[in-house]
Amino acid sequence: MLNDIQSIKKLAGEEIEKADSLKAIQDLKIKYLGKKGLLTAKIKSLGSIPQEDRREYGRILNELKVYIEELIGRQERIFKTAELNKTLQKQRIDVTVPGFYMPTGHLHPTTQVLDEIINIFTSLGFNVEEGPEVELDFYNFEALNFPQDHPARDMQDTFFIGDDVVLRTHTSPVQVRVMEKNTPPLRVIAPGKVYRCDADVSHIPMFHQLEGFMVDKHITMSDLKGVLEVFIQMVFGAETKVRFRPSFFPFTEPSAEIDISCVICKGSGCNVCKNTGWLEILGAGMINPRVFEMAGYNPDEYTGFAFGMGIERVAMLKYGIDDIRLFYENDKRFLEQF
Ligand code: DAH
Repeated sequence: MLNDIQSIKKLAGEEIEKADSLKAIQDLKIKYLGKKGLLTAKIKSLGSIPQEDRREYGRILNELKVYIEELIGRQERIFKTAELNKTLQKQRIDVTVPGFYMPTGHLHPTTQVLDEIINIFTSLGFNVEEGPEVELDFYNFEALNFPQDHPARDMQDTFFIGDDVVLRTHTSPVQVRVMEKNTPPLRVIAPGKVYRCDADVSHIPMFHQLEGFMVDKHITMSDLKGVLEVFIQMVFGAETKVRFRPSFFPFTEPSAEIDISCVICKGSGCNVCKNTGWLEILGAGMINPRVFEMAGYNPDEYTGFAFGMGIERVAMLKYGIDDIRLFYENDKRFLEQF
């Protein structure tokens, strides 16, 4: 028995020393210490040893077990560290290598200006509403007091889809749609795309407008002036002057066109404002009682104002852009400036 133990110790020592991989070590662990291992077998056979020697053999076998466990443990640690180092070496990140340039886009200038305008009006208590771009003649014209064959229909170069269906030429029809479904007080803006058969430096077939209106008892022209002045000075700066000029729209009475002092020359005269010192920015007026009637409101009870502006036009004035087509050509040299 003692001889056996000696040779197990010697063999285990040599084999563990020679093991050249983690796998080999783990195999040896099984070979000696596993359920059917060499040492385990010896420990199991203790029962057949005479009573008086059993204690001593037990001690020796236990010492050997501790000895082998330590040898294997040490080798295991060495191989595990080596393997870890190998993976770390392979997966090393060289933080000094220059990164890839990842260009990021940004919102289109039209969207930026539209968002800015919407934020101003929502901060003044206006709600955002939307209407369809394919619109009935009724909402685009009739209910806005453009009777059939009225010459004012010529002001808008309409794309017709059918006899009674058009691509909306402005966002004003949303006024009627909202009024039909709601009762005053109303404070609403309606941004969206509009379509006109027209194309030059200041006109394109599809562009953006924002309609705004307010309806309640006792709304007056001075409410309109107050709201528009706040809006214009927030977009163009507190020093911007605002001017109301009499005009005509079928759906407002009285109607006005609103000018701002020239953003380039501040009013002294330049070629942008054609030496007038003023730039036209939007149309507005008091909602025509005929429109209230068409929407089912009593014009003796309610009054209201409305205004409408082109978003690209506001952006052009704000940034001094002289050709509206730039907004739709997707030229990066243009877009990157915003
Ligand atoms: N809808 C008009 C247009 O597209 C703009 C406009 C003018 C809207 C006066 C209004 C307004 O609400 O009161 O030319």
